[in-house]
Amino acid sequence: MALSASTAPRRRFDAVIVGAGGAGMRCSLQLAQAGLNVAVLSKVFPTRSHTVAAQGGIGASLGNMTEDQWLWHMFDTVKGSDYLGDQDAIEFMCREAPKVVYELEHFGMPFDRNPDGTIYQRPFGGHSANFGEKPVPRACAAADRTGHALLHTLYQRNVAARTQFFVEWMALDLIMDADGDCVGVVALEMETGEVMIFEGKTTVLATGGAGRIFAASTNAYINTGDGLGLAARAGIPLQDLEFWQFHPTGVAGAGVLITEGVRGEGGILLNSNGERFMERYAPTLKDLAPRDFVSRSMDQEIKEGRGCGPDKDHVLLKLDHLGAETIMKRLPGIREISIKFANIDPIREPIPVVPTLHYQMGGIPANYHGEVVAPKGGNPTAVVGGLYAIGECSCVSVHGANRLGTNSLLDLVVFGRSAGNHIVDSLRREPRENKPLPAGAGEATLARLAALDGREKGERTQDVADEIRRTMQNHCGVFRTGSLLSEGKRRIMALDERRRHVAITDKSKVFNTARIEALELDNLIETAKATIVSAEARTESRGAHARDDYPERDDANWIKHTLWYSDGNRLAYKPVNMKPLTVETFQPKKRTF
Ligand code: FUM
Repeated sequence: MALSASTAPRRRFDAVIVGAGGAGMRCSLQLAQAGLNVAVLSKVFPTRSHTVAAQGGIGASLGNMTEDQWLWHMFDTVKGSDYLGDQDAIEFMCREAPKVVYELEHFGMPFDRNPDGTIYQRPFGGHSANFGEKPVPRACAAADRTGHALLHTLYQRNVAARTQFFVEWMALDLIMDADGDCVGVVALEMETGEVMIFEGKTTVLATGGAGRIFAASTNAYINTGDGLGLAARAGIPLQDLEFWQFHPTGVAGAGVLITEGVRGEGGILLNSNGERFMERYAPTLKDLAPRDFVSRSMDQEIKEGRGCGPDKDHVLLKLDHLGAETIMKRLPGIREISIKFANIDPIREPIPVVPTLHYQMGGIPANYHGEVVAPKGGNPTAVVGGLYAIGECSCVSVHGANRLGTNSLLDLVVFGRSAGNHIVDSLRREPRENKPLPAGAGEATLARLAALDGREKGERTQDVADEIRRTMQNHCGVFRTGSLLSEGKRRIMALDERRRHVAITDKSKVFNTARIEALELDNLIETAKATIVSAEARTESRGAHARDDYPERDDANWIKHTLWYSDGNRLAYKPVNMKPLTVETFQPKKRTF
């Protein structure tokens, strides 16, 4: 019998979480420990989620090495965001940071230690003492494998708390009812192709970033913007997608991340003249200026002919002066990556590096409780009932136009925990049953699958996906112009048409890989469209969005968040929240470091 929406199997939960990275598992832990019935869906085994690749540390003003304060952390984050971050959410995150880090320590996370037993902290880009005076060691580190340590700790705690994991399940669509509330998701078991409806009193999107819309990316292959696609198809806008972070140090030619922690430990960037060029661009923080600043400076050096190697297309990251002992103790993973991907042992030689796509600052709009926010009837802060978004797929917005290193792991645990608490509190305050599914729930998804399976002839999914990546890389990279962006938009819109005709030629259905790739393509294209349309419209340079034709920041016109709607491919805007919770606003100033 053909599967129909009415015969699709169903499971019912208090909460359905899509994604088992740091945010998803921090949230599920809070819920499971409160006795709620929680399902976590993940395309991969939880400890293979992309959080595992985070290297250098998690930011918190513990002050274990030198004096630090949460207000300094807040100042750095607001300034780092190029004044596009919401200051209420930033204050919340920076105040909570020490608490959530100590909580992780008590969960058993194996941080590196100082001789006195306290958590080891290293300096990181843009983190300063006393409002920009000098670098401060704020990154709490587990060698250069902090994300790995964090993810394994959270997984073990979740297993103990009896969270139910659905491993190798891909969420396909949100189920929205007539009130506009979310009542669950339709998902596909990747191995068998079985489709099931997961009903949830609450649904939490925690699907991570979408960095695979670019060709040269530090992101895992699973990072295809699934949460963004789900939200966009449900009519929810995507916020600030023009802001993508290029990490200064990806291995040239390979894209693998070399942590900023290398520079935190004393590594320096050199051009072909052997010059430590960051001293010219950022006299105070030098190599530890924020990432947008360092990436642009590197690009400038390369453009002006001071790049290294036969093609003068990269710069060098020198760390041999740190000594073998420090490198083996603090940066063992970096040494391994350099040997494997660049054939370089950094104990002896510098690593060739280039700015590489790393992080999405925008995402599904959410407040600092994790509730999804979508303007409705003139209310710019209206929440979508039953739906939360946390972690990289969300835009709270604490990172604004440029994220500081180590604030990503912090964002995951602060907002994963805060969403968990908010869900528990609201279900305790107003206990409720699952809302009934609307008539025809899941039908559109099943029709999408049937159309895909019925297509025998057409283009290969990967050809279209690769063309999206090339277009985004060439037309929406570190430096942008109006003409590059408008040509890029034209190409992406043509690719949107082409992806509707990809064929499933692999009928073997082994792990359904061909179907999964085609379904991921639907999410990649939503993310790419949102990015390029929003980037073309923003006629200023702010944070990671650098326009050669509009080189200045334009505070008079552009201190506002972009909202992109898939329906009609249209844009709207909403104000940045400049009002912190308890302290004075940090007013926009020129950013120098
Ligand atoms: O450089 C790094 O270790 C990356 C950290 C981050 O993106 O926060």
